[in-house]
Amino acid sequence: MITINNKNLKYKLVAINNESSNKQVDFEPGKVSFISEENTFYLVIKKDSMSNLRQVKLGMSEFIKNSKGDTTINFDTFKLALPEISPEVLFNVIFEIISFETHEKITYKKENKINNFVFNIEAEEYDDLYKENLIKNKYVNYARDLQDFPPNIGTSNFYGEKISKDAINIEGLKVSVLKNRELKNLNMNLVLAVNAGSNHEANVVVLEYNNNPGGEKIALVGKGICFDTGGYDLKPSTFIEGMKFDMTGAAIVVSIAMALAEAKAKVNFVAIGLFTDNLIGTKATLPESVLKSKNGLTVEVNNTDAEGRLILADGITYAIKEKNADKIYDIATLTGATAMALGESASGVFTEFDEMWENLENASKYTTERFWRLPIFEDHKEQVQNDSILADLTNSCNKGPGGSTAAAFLTFFAEDKKFLHIDCSRVVRVGLKGQGYIVKTIFEALKNY
Ligand code: BES
Ligand code: ZN
Ligand code: ZN
Repeated sequence: MITINNKNLKYKLVAINNESSNKQVDFEPGKVSFISEENTFYLVIKKDSMSNLRQVKLGMSEFIKNSKGDTTINFDTFKLALPEISPEVLFNVIFEIISFETHEKITYKKENKINNFVFNIEAEEYDDLYKENLIKNKYVNYARDLQDFPPNIGTSNFYGEKISKDAINIEGLKVSVLKNRELKNLNMNLVLAVNAGSNHEANVVVLEYNNNPGGEKIALVGKGICFDTGGYDLKPSTFIEGMKFDMTGAAIVVSIAMALAEAKAKVNFVAIGLFTDNLIGTKATLPESVLKSKNGLTVEVNNTDAEGRLILADGITYAIKEKNADKIYDIATLTGATAMALGESASGVFTEFDEMWENLENASKYTTERFWRLPIFEDHKEQVQNDSILADLTNSCNKGPGGSTAAAFLTFFAEDKKFLHIDCSRVVRVGLKGQGYIVKTIFEALKNY
């Protein structure tokens, strides 16, 4: 539990920098020393070594892992040791690391060690920021839980049921789930083609919220592949590891939606989580099939493993045609190319709209999550058209940067709307643990829309 007003708990955490004279403390950057006579933890900030923010992040995680009981965090010492970081950002970082590290994660182990001490941050002046952090970080952890379910449990039906059950309790949030019959009526044939090999129907979770009369309507579209085997273009075993996380985009968009609604943000949005898996079987879609998308463009499936862009295409058209979206963000673990390029370091961002990039970049400076802009050039779009023999577009280009050609494919479905695509292929997990990454930044970008 995190509070901001119960002062003087048993233990204390203070930040010091290497100009301090405390000889008993280990002056390693990002390290924490405990002095038992004082019941005090010292978090060391060593100037001019690694970045100061990283030292706080590493030190806070180490402190939580080694914590001994209820602790008061002396926020003033953090402000003094780190004058170059804005106090709000410092507060957010301290809060979110406690929330992250003390979260009771999804586990099927008999024994589960959890830390339920009280951490009191001495910063009463941040009451509003505290309340916002409670909501925002609750949904970071919600997204992590959705990510962590194993694929035999986390099926499209499971996510459809769980998310609608949780979201229905949030005031002002309209919840619906589209299954195969509705998807057929809506001509969402690309979603149905990806779902064709599955034992479970596709579940498209739609969360709508309107609290900004006359304002723009934002769409958040998320890739929710509960497991990506590649389909008939089957992945080799080395590439199949972690493919339960291919539903992360959808987990993120529903979590952002729930956080914004719970925080009563002044914004209009529709969040669309497209859940299905991508399997093989007698009914699964064959390579070289030609499909007609919801917006009328035909697509040649030259690679069944490029399934993400297929479901997103229909999701984007649904947002435009059925929900009158003005501006679209999509979030997806879309390409191996972006995973290779940026690894665990950052998400790739593709947009032709500079102000959308700037808005996201500003929000990310506040949340300290990392994004890196990559291009969509005209020739990438031409390639998506020219590489198909039979249809308007191909889902898999013969050459070129895979992240950019995937993004270029999506622009055909965004039509004339402002559009930004986030490819978060590898940043979404550390090892086999979901990170709930991106929830905070989009929450920040949209909360005062
Ligand atoms: N889900 C994968 C992308 C991915 C790869 C995410 C590695 C996380 C880590 C996606 O569906 C995929 O397989 N994309 C292919 C597309 C290609 C066949 C055109 C890729 O990028 O290799
Ligand atoms: Zn794939
Ligand atoms: Zn995929």
